[in-house]
Amino acid sequence: MILPIVAYGDPVLKKVAEEIPKGEDLTQLIADMYETMYTASGVGLAAPQIGLSKRLFVIDAGGFEDSEYPDLKKAFINPVIVEEMGEDWPYEEGCLSIPGIRAAVERPESLIIEYYDENWKKHKEEYSGMAARVIQHEYDHIEGILFTDHLSPLKKRLYKSKLINISKGIVDAAYRMRFPVKR
Ligand code: NI
Repeated sequence: MILPIVAYGDPVLKKVAEEIPKGEDLTQLIADMYETMYTASGVGLAAPQIGLSKRLFVIDAGGFEDSEYPDLKKAFINPVIVEEMGEDWPYEEGCLSIPGIRAAVERPESLIIEYYDENWKKHKEEYSGMAARVIQHEYDHIEGILFTDHLSPLKKRLYKSKLINISKGIVDAAYRMRFPVKR
């Protein structure tokens, strides 16, 4: 089932998401999140973006040209980034909750992450490059952080009116969204 994507300005996007009880059956939710993400042409989607304050995100980040991970379709449940390594590097990020805005964000080159998969098997893996980038962006979502929070005060001011418009639904998105502010 395709779910509406929560737009910028919804308080759920600013909340630290809740840990998921171990063993909970997330099969349907994860399937719905993939379907929603693919329909919106995204490479990642976090549970708060569909209005659920849960520590869960899905990615499909294998499509990048320089990818060391050609098959990176994965669900991350109760993930913990245990370490970030390397130099910060900039990349123009976007977000399905913030359509029409892209801006360069600096993030460390690589990371080590612990998480459970949909069968509640625990993993500890290292990622770098674009894969790490997508994971960092989605991980931020479950910590209540948006990529726009990383921008300089000047850039934030530049995007302010656009962001207010997004929260009111004054925006073109090619997918179904849910807007927090009634017009
Ligand atoms: Ni996002």
